[in-house]
Amino acid sequence: MSTLEKEILFDVTTVRKDFPILTLSVYGKPLVYLDNAATTQKPQIVLDTLTKYYTEQNSNIHRGVHFLSEVATFEYEKARGKVKNLLNAADSKEIIFTKGTTDGINLVAHSYGRTHINAGDEVIISAMEHHSNIVPWQLLCEERGATLRVIPMNDEGELLIDGFQKMLSPKTKIVSVVYVSNSLGTINPIKKIIELSHANGTPVLIDGAQSVAHMKVDVRELDCDFFVFSGHKIFGPTGIGALYGKSEWLEKMIPYQGGGDMIRSVTFEKTTFNDLPFKFEAGTPNIAGGIGLGAAIDYVQKIGLDAIREYEHELLEYGTDTLQSVNGLRIIGTAKEKASVISFVVENAHPHDVGTILDREGIAIRTGHHCTQPVMQRFGIPATARASLSMYNMKEEIDILVRGIEKVKEIFG
Ligand code: ALA
Repeated sequence: MSTLEKEILFDVTTVRKDFPILTLSVYGKPLVYLDNAATTQKPQIVLDTLTKYYTEQNSNIHRGVHFLSEVATFEYEKARGKVKNLLNAADSKEIIFTKGTTDGINLVAHSYGRTHINAGDEVIISAMEHHSNIVPWQLLCEERGATLRVIPMNDEGELLIDGFQKMLSPKTKIVSVVYVSNSLGTINPIKKIIELSHANGTPVLIDGAQSVAHMKVDVRELDCDFFVFSGHKIFGPTGIGALYGKSEWLEKMIPYQGGGDMIRSVTFEKTTFNDLPFKFEAGTPNIAGGIGLGAAIDYVQKIGLDAIREYEHELLEYGTDTLQSVNGLRIIGTAKEKASVISFVVENAHPHDVGTILDREGIAIRTGHHCTQPVMQRFGIPATARASLSMYNMKEEIDILVRGIEKVKEIFG
C-alpha cells in the first residue's frame, strides 16, 4: 500500500477533531495528552450519545412495560451486541457487562474460582500483571488453600514461555495473563499461552484492558475462555466494561452477586437464577455507560483497528527512537513486540519530578508504579514515567515531550 493510500485510511488531524478535549490549553500550553493507558479521551459522538440517553431515553431496563423502558432496554442490548461484534464472540449471552476490567477479573475469580479451585490447586499469572490480576487471585488462593504461581520475565520485559510450560500441571486450574502490559507495553504471546494451557486442560483469562483500543481481538480465533476489558480505555465512559466468557463456562459458574434482574424466581426457601448473561448482572446496571460504550465501539470500528494499529506502531517506533536518543534516559520495557506504552527513567530525577515538570509544559503522563509494584521490583526501580499513546497522538507531541525532558535534565543536572 502506498503512503498516500495509508493517509487516506487514517488521518490523525481528522481524528483529533472528534475529541473536543484535545483543543484545551493547560498552563497556557496546548494539552499534550500522553496518559492513554490510564484512560482515553472521549469523542463527540460518545458525549452526544450520553446526553441523548439522559435527555431522551433515561429509564430502567428489563423491568418496565412503558415506552422509555423499552427504548432504554433496546439501546442497552444493542450495545451488548456491539461488544459481541468487537470481540467476535459467538453469542451476546457470552457478554457480561461489568464495571470494568477489575470487576470482570473479580467475577471470574469468584464465580469460577470458588467452584473449580480447591486446596492444593494452582493459579498461574505472570510477572507483569496489574494489581487487578494479582490480588483477586491471591484472595482466592488464600481462601481455597491454593497456590499462586508467576510466569517470570526477562530483562526486556518478555515472558519466559519455557518456564511457563514447565509450570503447567494437573494442579493448574486457571491461567490469567495480560495481553498488553500497562507498565512495559509488552504484547504477550497469548495465542501460544492459550494453546499450551488448553493442551493441559486449563482455561485462560486474558486481561485486554491495554489491548482493546489498539488491536483487533477475535476471542474465537484466540480460543480464550475469558476476556475482560474496560470501556474507558476504548474511548467510552468510565464505570462500564465487559467480560466475555465461553458459554460452557458461564453456564456452570455460580453468580458473583445476588439481587434484582439476575433471578428467575425467589422464595425465602430458594432462588433460581436468570439465563445468561443476566445471571451475572445483579441490580440496575450502568445503562448510560453501556450505551455510551456502544457508541465508542461504533466509532473505533469506523476508523478500523487495523489502521489504528498500523498508525500507532509508527508512532511508537518514532517515540522509542526519539526518547532513546536522549542522554540519561532509559526505557524500561524493551520487548520486541510492544504497543502504545513507553516507560522510562531519567538519570538523577525522580519520575514524580519528571511528571510535575512536564505537567507545567502541558504534557500529561503518568508516573509511579502504575499498579504493577512487582514489575518495579523486578527492574529494581521505585517508579517510572510513562508516556502512553493513542490514535490521536502525533509525532509533534513526542517532540514536545522530548523538549520537556530536556528541561527536566537542565533542572536536575
Ligand atoms: N491501569 C491504568 C494505568 O495503567 C489505570 O494507568
